[in-house]
Amino acid sequence: MTNGKGRDIKPASGKLGVLLPGMGAVATTFVAGVEAARQGIAKPIGSLTQMGTIRLGKRTDDRSPLVKDFVPLAKLEDIEFGGWDVYPDSAYEAAKKAGVLDASHLEPLRGFLEGVKPWPAVFDPQYVKKLNGPNVKKGKSKRDLAEQVSDDIARFKKERNLDRMVMVWCGSTEVYRQAGEVHSSLAAFEKGLDESHPDILPSMIYAYCAIKEGIPYNNGAPNLSGDFPAMVELAKKTGTPISGKDFKTGQTFMKTLLAPGFKARLLGMNGWYSTNILGNRDGEVLDDPESFKSKEVSKLGVLEQILQPQLYPDLYGKIHHVVRINYYPPRGDNKEGWDNIDIFGWMGYPMQIKVDFLCRDSILAAPIVLDLAIFSDLASRCGMSGIQEWLSFYFKSPQTAPGLYPEHDVFIQLMKLKNTLRHLRGEELITHLGLEYYD
Ligand SMILES: NC(=O)c1ccc[n+]([C@@H]2O[C@H](COP(=O)([O-])OP(=O)(O)OC[C@H]3O[C@@H](n4cnc5c(N)ncnc54)[C@H](O)[C@@H]3O)[C@@H](O)[C@H]2O)c1
Repeated sequence: MTNGKGRDIKPASGKLGVLLPGMGAVATTFVAGVEAARQGIAKPIGSLTQMGTIRLGKRTDDRSPLVKDFVPLAKLEDIEFGGWDVYPDSAYEAAKKAGVLDASHLEPLRGFLEGVKPWPAVFDPQYVKKLNGPNVKKGKSKRDLAEQVSDDIARFKKERNLDRMVMVWCGSTEVYRQAGEVHSSLAAFEKGLDESHPDILPSMIYAYCAIKEGIPYNNGAPNLSGDFPAMVELAKKTGTPISGKDFKTGQTFMKTLLAPGFKARLLGMNGWYSTNILGNRDGEVLDDPESFKSKEVSKLGVLEQILQPQLYPDLYGKIHHVVRINYYPPRGDNKEGWDNIDIFGWMGYPMQIKVDFLCRDSILAAPIVLDLAIFSDLASRCGMSGIQEWLSFYFKSPQTAPGLYPEHDVFIQLMKLKNTLRHLRGEELITHLGLEYYD
């Protein structure tokens, strides 16, 4: 039963261009997976937009349509890919080098992936110290570089006859920067572009170009990129949805599954030690302390927000939270994340939990890229602009309105996401009060 107050949603007609700054392991695994699903070779496992359902009304109503049948989403068949990278490799060559997918998946997709070639990147090795490739734009100023990116976008739109576009940053993690004066307003940022201000990083230039054109921008890495006042101002001005930061995939995903459970049972915690070994290019980039700093800040915030030590000083007032990432080439993309968790229970007796997650980073990230592309396009067609907190579900360090703390509990995030969809369609929100308990 609906309350008849759904939003006006523009139809998802025509083609959707997905713009990918950074075409490495994650982006090429995403592109290959979408094409594999289109060809019927593989299923889009892990994607809420493709495989998820949504309960509507009372449990006794027995209404649980697929999300994609409930809200008008772009179809996989209507997606076109474009992107930039520091290296000129096609998506096929890049995917082969990344070593995520095996030949049995890559070879049938070869022709298609070879057709996805990156445009020259806006890049400067001072912001990602471990990389230095040849496929890089030259420009008189950062403004000039931004104009070149805008030209790429306009050309892509015309050549592919696109109706709409979205952008998902899948580039390397840049060095840590906090928002400063040049990020404080749109006017300051645009002046900074003219003056090639050193605190305007390449990812911010892509974000600026997208948001200026009303193209939803989603940031999969922990660097600021679109998360500062000037970009929020621009997003409001152009009516553009933005979201970030840092895809929530392996270890932090585990953390946001487990920590809410401990807190729900009021089990105390002394410490959480997390370490990773990772051998892909992302691992190499994160071997640089300045890029790791961006990642560390993104990973450390989670526990504090979930456990709320200010409300539970006896349980969580003194936690030693440590996160390490070690570059270890033999593992490639198949990261291993170990967690040691020191908890305590009744009368203070200590216990330990060990988690060893042998995961595949890009396999976990690819469906997130897809869902962000598809949901941010939906947001745009619904007239939702600015920070999309309902997409926090996908991020380690969710972007929030100023003054609000981010919600990290993955189940609260999912409820917020699904209730947003229910709201858009004028369905009753599910609060789990009364008789209805399970979604
Ligand atoms: N895989 C995961 O589970 C996961 C989770 C969270 C965040 N991330 C982040 O996603 C990003 C991509 O991860 P990945 O494993 O694909 O890394 P990757 O190193 O395989 O790919 C990143 C690509 O970005 C390119 N690049 C760097 N700077 C660029 C620029 N300015 N313009 C265009 N291209 C640029 C690099 O050349 C590289 O090909 C990283 O920032 C990573 O930290 C990944």
